[in-house]
Amino acid sequence: MRDTFLKACRGIKTDYTPVWFMRQAGRYMPEYQKIRQKYDFLTMCKTPEISVEITMQPIRILNVDAAILFSDILIPLEAMGLKIDFIDNIGPKVTPSVKTGDHLGYLKNFELEKIEFVFKTIKILIKELDVPLIGFSASPFTLATYVIEGGSSKDFVDTKRFMFSEPEFFHNLMETLTEATFIYLNEQIKAGVHAIQIFDTWAGILSPFDYEIFCKPYVKKIIENLKRNVPIIYFCPNLAGLAKHINDLISDVISLDWRINLREATKLISDKVIQGNLDPLTLLGSEEELFKRAELILRDGRFAKSHIFNLGHGVNINTSVERLKKLVDFIHEFKFEGEV
Ligand code: CP3
Repeated sequence: MRDTFLKACRGIKTDYTPVWFMRQAGRYMPEYQKIRQKYDFLTMCKTPEISVEITMQPIRILNVDAAILFSDILIPLEAMGLKIDFIDNIGPKVTPSVKTGDHLGYLKNFELEKIEFVFKTIKILIKELDVPLIGFSASPFTLATYVIEGGSSKDFVDTKRFMFSEPEFFHNLMETLTEATFIYLNEQIKAGVHAIQIFDTWAGILSPFDYEIFCKPYVKKIIENLKRNVPIIYFCPNLAGLAKHINDLISDVISLDWRINLREATKLISDKVIQGNLDPLTLLGSEEELFKRAELILRDGRFAKSHIFNLGHGVNINTSVERLKKLVDFIHEFKFEGEV
């Protein structure tokens, strides 16, 4: 197996900077669209043969250094008795939504059997792949936003209303989601994933004070209790005020978005491997501007304990596959001065 990605996760400097992309499988890719025309997204997630095929497409086509399981952060909610739908041009929908302490009963005991397809997919993938497989979940807080809002949100009014009016019940919700996420990730590790990424997509909507109270303790608990034979990546976009708060999170890797300078980030977060942090929309511009920014990131990455190249968020649907492929080649072939 090509292990450059895993070496970097463990803090070992590598011959070249490994690269993979969040949302590397998806609608920007004609090969994905071809299958997507026949099936809805949830069916694709729930059918191991399809999920395996889609996970492998970017490995074959882009030559990235790691695969990420094709699934969604909302899938485990189905094992907790909630219904999830993905509506075209609108996004995900979760029913019923949990808006107050009175609704906590909507969440049932986590039943792994209901999402057996995830573990079946992982078991097939680790036999087929020649690169490491990344499993994932949302952080309990990020998952809570979908459970409370009933889908995506811009302002998170219901989440914050719940949090600030019934903090005790909010903590109860977080406990439930933390336990479920822990079981879910542990089962992915048992099935064979080589690394885990925890998506904390919405942690950045919190003040540092509230991050410490409502978000971080739960992520920390999960990381501390997982069987630590695989590296753990924590993705936290919009982390401006949170940077120094994540130093004591014991994740091996921290994944950053483009809103923070990578070199600055290595000063704030010195004990972790850094992943990131190209603005995904640079891929829509000229090649010259793209490579200029990619080079800056590669160079800044040398100041980190180790560096994994990634985007600051998912691949945009308008991205050209050719352009992305060129970016991978550019990263793999990049020569740092003074090194052969
Ligand atoms: O990265 C990968 O290639 C692996 C698969 C993956 C998907 N979603 C596939 C997907 C992963 C890791 C996710 C995580 C995810 N899902 C997050 C966290 C990452 C982030 O973006 O911050 C979030 C917030 C979700 C929730 C979600 N799923 C939304 C809001 C949407 C709708 C938006 C959209 O682009 O349509 C989805 C749908 C989704 N998840 C698609 C894919 C490929 C599009 C489905 C389709 O084909 O219509």
